[in-house]
Amino acid sequence: MNMIAKSVKDSLTVMTEIVLPNDTNNLDNLMGGRLLHWMDICAAIASQRHANQVCVTAAVDSVEFNCPIRQGEVVILESRVNRTYRTSMEVQINVWAENNLTKTRRKCNRAFYTFVAIDEAGKPQPIPPVIPESDKEKKCHANAVKRREFRLLLSGRIKLEEAIHIRSDLMTAFKAHTDDAEDD
Ligand SMILES: CC(C)(COP(=O)(O)OP(=O)(O)OC[C@H]1O[C@@H](n2cnc3c(N)ncnc32)[C@H](O)[C@@H]1OP(=O)(O)O)[C@@H](O)C(=O)NCCC(=O)NCCS
Repeated sequence: MNMIAKSVKDSLTVMTEIVLPNDTNNLDNLMGGRLLHWMDICAAIASQRHANQVCVTAAVDSVEFNCPIRQGEVVILESRVNRTYRTSMEVQINVWAENNLTKTRRKCNRAFYTFVAIDEAGKPQPIPPVIPESDKEKKCHANAVKRREFRLLLSGRIKLEEAIHIRSDLMTAFKAHTDDAEDD
C-alpha cells in the first residue's frame, strides 16, 4: 500500500443535493435521517479518496442540526480528512442550505466521522498520513487529537489515565463542577 503523505485537499469532497418532497417530514423540512445518509456518503468518499481503500464508518459524533432545511432548497455537503492515525481517520463534514429564490446560504450542520480502512476480510489496514497546510487545517488537525481521545473515552476504548491530551481539561471541568456543588 502506498503510504506517501497526502494533503487535506486530496480528500476534499463536495456533494450537492436538492430537497424533494420524498426527503421531507410533515413540516416540509428535510428529514434528519436523509441528511445523515447524505453526510455518511460524502464523508465516506473523502475517507476513500485519502486512503485509496475501502473504508467503513466506525463512529459519528457531534452531529448538530442547527436549522431546518426546507423543501426545494439546495444542500451543499463538504467533507475532508482532518487527521489520520494508524488505520483510522477523522473526517469533518459541513453542511449548508442554499435558497436559490432568496439567493441566501446558511450553515446548518457539522459533524465528525471516524472511518477505518479495511481489507476484504474486514481487518483494519494502515493508511497514509495527512499533512495539514493552511492555518485552518492545522487548527482542525491539532483539535482532532482531543476529539479522538474524548470519543475513545466515551466508547470505553481508553481509560481516563490514557487520555493525555484532555485529562487535565476534564479534571479541571470536574473540579469546577464539584467545587460549585460543595458551595450550594
Ligand atoms: C470499524 C471496525 C473495522 C474496527 O474494528 P476493530 O476490530 O475494533 O479494530 P481495532 O480495535 O483495531 O480499531 C481500528 C481503528 O479503529 C478505531 N476505532 C474503532 N472504534 C472506534 C470508535 N468507536 N471511535 C473512534 N475510533 C474507533 C481504533 O481506535 C483504531 O484506530 P487506529 O488504528 O487508527 O489507532 C469494526 O468495528 C467494524 O467493522 N465495524 C462496523 C463498521 C460498519 O459496518 N459501519 C457501517 C457501514 S460502513
